[in-house]
Amino acid sequence: MLQHKKLALLSLSLFSLIALAAKAEPIDNRHIIVAPQCLVKNLSVSMNYKTLASSSTLALLETNRLGIDYLIEAKNHRTATPCGGFVDVTDAWDNYHSRDLSSQRKAKSFLQEEMTKESSVKIKAKTYGIQYPDQVNQLIKQINPSTIWSDLTAFSDTHKSKFPDRYANSATGVNAANWLKEKIEALAKANNRTDITTYAISTGPQYKQPSIVVKIGDSNEPGVVIGGHMDTLSSSWELKPGADDDGSGSMAVMEIARTLISSNMRFKKPIYIMWYAAEEEGLVGSSKVVAEFKNKNIPIDAVLQFDMTGYADKNDPTIWLITDNINKDLTAYLETLIKTYIKQPVGYTRCGYSCSDHASWNKAGFPAAIPFEAAFGKDNPYIHTANDTINILSINHMANFAKLGIAFAVELAEPVV
Ligand code: BES
Ligand code: ZN
Repeated sequence: MLQHKKLALLSLSLFSLIALAAKAEPIDNRHIIVAPQCLVKNLSVSMNYKTLASSSTLALLETNRLGIDYLIEAKNHRTATPCGGFVDVTDAWDNYHSRDLSSQRKAKSFLQEEMTKESSVKIKAKTYGIQYPDQVNQLIKQINPSTIWSDLTAFSDTHKSKFPDRYANSATGVNAANWLKEKIEALAKANNRTDITTYAISTGPQYKQPSIVVKIGDSNEPGVVIGGHMDTLSSSWELKPGADDDGSGSMAVMEIARTLISSNMRFKKPIYIMWYAAEEEGLVGSSKVVAEFKNKNIPIDAVLQFDMTGYADKNDPTIWLITDNINKDLTAYLETLIKTYIKQPVGYTRCGYSCSDHASWNKAGFPAAIPFEAAFGKDNPYIHTANDTINILSINHMANFAKLGIAFAVELAEPVV
């Protein structure tokens, strides 16, 4: 009996010690996330999470840095039935003021709103036509597959590059952001472009790596966004080259930027090229970028996301269009562009959750679309591991995505003739 009491006391004091330690967490180590229940179920350590609200499919959790790392770890154990990722909604939660005084009901309605947010903005139908075939074809010819390959080698070679990983919370992740920015600045200078501005957008106090934005053209009309995510997971356990995820998208975006900057074509509307930070941490960088565009009232007509463009399953050149968390009209327009200009087969596939940065734009009401390398589940099996290397990627597949980006930019930003 006494023994039992002692044990109970011991575990109680242990418990309060843990509770105390949890209380001592600095405030900027607090993350609010929305995670699928199937992922929450697989968490082995539950003490880092406080459930604020939950539905049958999703949970709203308060956690900390360690909790985020456990979630990433759980997510990367590929199970028989795949489960979605989680989204960091700390800012949205902090800015959310419901009329309800009860915090429990506030959390419930917040989660409800997160689940039902959908794109509401549509571009005018007339902007979806094929209007500039000569200009599109002229620039498509300038896409150079070997430039994509050498850029990707520099970006993802863990031994030769300045960044053995591009982890959002590391100095090497910051080096990767600087590398992107400096490369664009050099291109702008070499081409005497005074209508190009390059800037960083902070990912907040918890991440060192900023997103990088390039504005091409000085018009203030509604613009076009083309982006990918620069970050990888941390290489503290094994190397994280992130060649496909998302070096391939990032360097397709770089080739689009190079082609636009080095041409003498000018556009009615601005083209925003961007590389998001901290995508792997729950779409953190893109949600900051979207918030900044909203705060500054920068109008955007259409958003294109490139995340994984290099792995062609059985050498199949099909370009797959993701059908969830996107704008349907814009996605249908991508099919038209692919059939007109790229002349490759088109497939449709679903992520089933907010799998990349297009979801941040879509949630905020901007029309977004994402072409993808393979059918979901037939994509690169090595992402998030040391084997996500360039050698198994297809140079032509990546070049086709870059060409699609050019068609998108030229048709929607409209050349000045
Ligand atoms: N590139 C992946 C998304 C992806 C993976 C799409 C596999 C299709 C197939 C992206 O970088 C990623 O890892 N996303 C996370 C979710 C994110 C919100 C943390 C994921 O898929 O788990
Ligand atoms: Zn990833």
